[in-house]
Amino acid sequence: MKTIAPDRLPALLRAMPKAELHLHVEGSLEPELIFRLAARNGVALPYASVEALRAAYAFGDLQSFLDIYYAGASVLRHELDFFEMAWAYLERAAADNVVHAEIFFDPQTHTARGVPIEAVIQGLDHACHRAHAELGVSAKLILCFLRHLSEDDALATLETALPYRHHFIGVGLDSSERGHPPEKFARVFARCRELGLHRVAHAGEEGPPAYIESALDVLRVERIDHGVRCVESPALVERLARARMPLTVCPLSNVKLRVFPTLAQHNLKALLDAGLCVTINSDDPAYFGGYVNENFVQTFAALPALTADDAYRLAANSFEASFASADDKARWTRQLDEAFAAAG
Ligand code: ADE
Ligand code: ZN
Repeated sequence: MKTIAPDRLPALLRAMPKAELHLHVEGSLEPELIFRLAARNGVALPYASVEALRAAYAFGDLQSFLDIYYAGASVLRHELDFFEMAWAYLERAAADNVVHAEIFFDPQTHTARGVPIEAVIQGLDHACHRAHAELGVSAKLILCFLRHLSEDDALATLETALPYRHHFIGVGLDSSERGHPPEKFARVFARCRELGLHRVAHAGEEGPPAYIESALDVLRVERIDHGVRCVESPALVERLARARMPLTVCPLSNVKLRVFPTLAQHNLKALLDAGLCVTINSDDPAYFGGYVNENFVQTFAALPALTADDAYRLAANSFEASFASADDKARWTRQLDEAFAAAG
């Protein structure tokens, strides 16, 4: 690879093509859109203004964030609301040179309020199709189960989603991690595997390395979301590296939710140097202070040991770790090579 002058690295981080694999679409709801949808749908918010809502975005841990995140999502009622939320994210993703996005959504958050799952999925699907046609962004959906709810609730949700099976490529597991180990969802993930759905799970964000192991062994996941606590078990790091099991890491999220005290203390460089298939993602960008390019630029600024080689590796990993076709992966990797050649 050609040498890249350090002062040209931030521009290259922004310009290089990349895939985003860990993005909760409800976490892309900006305060302005929350207020617009609340007014349109007649939903009362416990905040007087956009500024007051933003001021509440100071989180002590994952749960304190989730409480506000679910309150924000309560303004979503109709298919058009879901379309507008996803479209706003996809326009931002395109501006960040995201060529492929695998987007998480939490149907139980909405069906529990009486919103039909059809409205959720059709609205998101419409935005994904339009993004491909108008923005050139490939966009796919991953249905997530909320781990603080029961497995029976997850199984029932899966059944109601099956008429729309062709609109999502896989399933995930998110929400409150501690006290809700992956094995709680063994049956529903086994059913998803039979259905040919891809499988991912949040593990090792706040939870222990044992949760990463049970996500692999019991849920048979193909990626781990976050996974940063794997470093507490050298044997697990070796296993993840050997299997090239992707970790979708979200640096700004990890600092906002106090998984690491500062970005400078983030273990991303150590994970890369251990040979892990790490990717950089934005998680809930409206709440954590930045979309994917901001995650790249701020992380590289805070960790000067990260090099242009690491930038290339992170983008290449994002294509490798995606559920896209081999042809698409090869095409995006060629585009990545061109971006590096042009910057050298
Ligand atoms: N839902 C949205 N963001 C999440 C995160 N960072 N961890 C677990 N569940 C989530
Ligand atoms: Zn997440």
